[in-house]
Amino acid sequence: MASLFFFFFFFCQLLLGLGRNFVAGAGQVPAMFVFGDSLVDPGNNNQLLTLAKADYKPHGIDFPEGTTGRFCNGGTVVDHLGYLLGLPLIPPFNNPDTHGIAILQGVNYGSAASGILNDTGELYGNRIPMDEQLQNFNATIQELSSMLLDKTQDHIRRSLFLLAPGSNDYINNYLLPLSKRRSKYTPETFANLLIQQFGRQLKDLYDLGARKFLIVNISPIGCIPNQLASHGSDTGACVESVNQMASQYNRKLKEMVDQYNAQLKESTFLYWDAFSFALNVIENYANYGFKNQNTACCGGGKWKGQVLCLPVFSPCQNRSEYVFWDPYHPTDAFNVIASKDAYQGNLQASFPRNVQQLVES
Ligand SMILES: *[C@@H]1O[C@H](CO)[C@@H](O)[C@H](O)[C@H]1NC(C)=O
Ligand SMILES: *[C@@H]1O[C@H](CO)[C@@H](O)[C@H](O)[C@H]1NC(C)=O
Ligand SMILES: *[C@@H]1O[C@H](CO)[C@@H](O)[C@H](O)[C@H]1NC(C)=O
Repeated sequence: MASLFFFFFFFCQLLLGLGRNFVAGAGQVPAMFVFGDSLVDPGNNNQLLTLAKADYKPHGIDFPEGTTGRFCNGGTVVDHLGYLLGLPLIPPFNNPDTHGIAILQGVNYGSAASGILNDTGELYGNRIPMDEQLQNFNATIQELSSMLLDKTQDHIRRSLFLLAPGSNDYINNYLLPLSKRRSKYTPETFANLLIQQFGRQLKDLYDLGARKFLIVNISPIGCIPNQLASHGSDTGACVESVNQMASQYNRKLKEMVDQYNAQLKESTFLYWDAFSFALNVIENYANYGFKNQNTACCGGGKWKGQVLCLPVFSPCQNRSEYVFWDPYHPTDAFNVIASKDAYQGNLQASFPRNVQQLVES
């Protein structure tokens, strides 16, 4: 009888402990919700009819979980940021197992080839554009509510929302040879369109209860092997005109983030300047331990930037020596140092300056 009582007591403690962990989170935030494209997609496109998939080798060749649908030899920048925050790998929304307790520490909605605009990436087939990613988050809220009841809004308010869209609105929309968008918009008015749409999407998330945002700007997409190849670069130097478009968008994005920080009460929008960080790594690659900053480790054609990393290609021997894994995406080695920059780096001139301070605030 005593032992039964003891067992029951122990069982209750266990449940309480678990409940505390799941509600308050074992990590520095209870959960992380992720939105964006193939830079963050952990396998959402595996279930879609699309050419933008990475559910085959050699993707994942250096990843403990193996091939998952990530466009990388290892972990994405989000995976590595998650490790720093004490979170497990955040599951893809589209995976049939992503329900119940699996969603308590976050969900990743990112989809390869997708963008801020609905038509971005249509060349590849199906994908989940940002507006649909938000609708999917809305479905997650319903499911969270069934488990966390009146604690749901508090859970969302204390969670980290990472958003990294926009690259594909250039690479797989505006910059395409027969782009309809380019015949209607100048680089400036196109950037305005993106900011207007992304601004609305952020406001939607705020209205759904999100308060801690990490906004990742567009990387120096003029430096990726795909753009070196499509602009016929002979030297491997970054394509300036493309980087300027990204910079123009980024300046407007920063203005919007400043404005939202001032306007939207009780919320914090961190702006991570991934552009400057990545450009610095590319320009000073040897200082970061890389031996190659312009050829993909896995791909085909010039700069290995013309053909996607396919199962028939052998990747480079030592992935840690390369900045780029395939024509579009960085290696695990790059993502490791990038996540540290977001976590500990000096992101903007006001408090909080980095993710570590954001989650502690
Ligand atoms: C994008 O498509 C979704 C439907 O999937 C729709 O709800 C949304 O309004 C569209 N966005 C724009 C800006 O047209
Ligand atoms: C979320 O769902 C509610 C109804 O369940 C709807 O009113 C709202 O417009 C949705 N918001 C977004 C951003 O999809
Ligand atoms: C791979 O490259 C990294 C960075 O240059 C180096 O530190 C490491 O020793 C290399 N590994 C092998 C197995 O050669």
